[in-house]
Amino acid sequence: MSDKTRLRKLDHIRITVDSPIEHTGTTLFENVYLEHNALPEINFSEIDLSTPFLGKKMKAPLIVTGMTGGHPVASEINCAIAEAAEELGLGMGVGSQRAAIEDPSLAPTFRAARDCGPSIPLIANIGAPQLVKGYGVREAEKAVEMIEADALAVHLNAAQEVFQPEGDTDYQGVVDKIVELVDRLSVPVIVKETGHGLGYEAVYRLHSLGVDYFDISGSGGTSWILVEKYRRRARGDELYADAADTYSYWGIPTALALVESRWAAPSACIIASGGIRTGLDAAKALALGADIAGTALPVIRAYAAGRREGVKRLLEKMVFELRVAMFLTGCRTLECLKTTKRILVTGLLKELVEAKRIRLDYYMEARKAPRVC
Ligand code: FNR
Repeated sequence: MSDKTRLRKLDHIRITVDSPIEHTGTTLFENVYLEHNALPEINFSEIDLSTPFLGKKMKAPLIVTGMTGGHPVASEINCAIAEAAEELGLGMGVGSQRAAIEDPSLAPTFRAARDCGPSIPLIANIGAPQLVKGYGVREAEKAVEMIEADALAVHLNAAQEVFQPEGDTDYQGVVDKIVELVDRLSVPVIVKETGHGLGYEAVYRLHSLGVDYFDISGSGGTSWILVEKYRRRARGDELYADAADTYSYWGIPTALALVESRWAAPSACIIASGGIRTGLDAAKALALGADIAGTALPVIRAYAAGRREGVKRLLEKMVFELRVAMFLTGCRTLECLKTTKRILVTGLLKELVEAKRIRLDYYMEARKAPRVC
């Protein structure tokens, strides 16, 4: 990896930890109400959160989505997240492995995740722009083998690339490249956004071409446009920094992205991420059509504040909060939460769903279709 790439990786972590880089718009989960059940008639201690994912069993439907690798600090972060995930029975992804595919001496900084989390569902990661520039099955298999991954995430980050000084802004042919991986890779391919959201058209197209796994990563949490804004300012690129502000709310809010994606692919395995900050957010996502909830930014911040213990505490809190939501809606199983009638969709979310010509009453039935994760 060039010194430039190494510094950029550290820059990204420093900026996400220290600067206000969350979207100025919300996830719209505030428009989703889970109704309180005063008569839950279940035993809190019997609530079952166990979830199959990528051929393994998690103790709760929660993953830490891909963030880092490629630097000694990243190695420690990956290990801390993996140890917490191993202990709590959760899953995780690593950050883009491009650096280590190009310079194998960096592989251990990603491999740390598997070494510290031997039994967790672990997701490898490469970027769509790399596929366009020539990566294929060989490079993708390298990423998978490097960490003994259970799946490969291909991340889509057009919104970031267009504001990044060294951005790759050619996305031509990306769908064909993804389909080639889906057909030939030894593990499932997850198509993943990075905080600006997968919508109906993208998911419908990819699902019809064989993609069964999506991480919708909508807007309302980390904004990579805002992260790049700080890097632009530091370079004195005021024009681009100001333009980044214009786009500070750009994207499909996570709750809307989730409804659109589930409507487009009723049987797909859908990870809801982007602005998931609590176990209650996760519960709303599951009730609205997700199979798994994912979170990133709070985890890197918890690591910065409290290392491995900070990460474990955060994830433990989120799982407890999810369990409380199940109790207070009267759901002993996730199946019950995923089909609950105790969910109301209001406000802007309802308006936007209807503007997409999705009928909420039909949607609530469609979300009950069987899915495989
Ligand atoms: C990320 N994210 C990310 N995604 C990806 O597919 N490959 C990557 O290398 C990275 N790198 C990365 C670094 C850091 C520090 C953060 C915070 C995030 C995106 C991440 O997986 C997720 O999609 C978004 O951050 C939205 O989720 P949150 O942060 O709002 O919970």
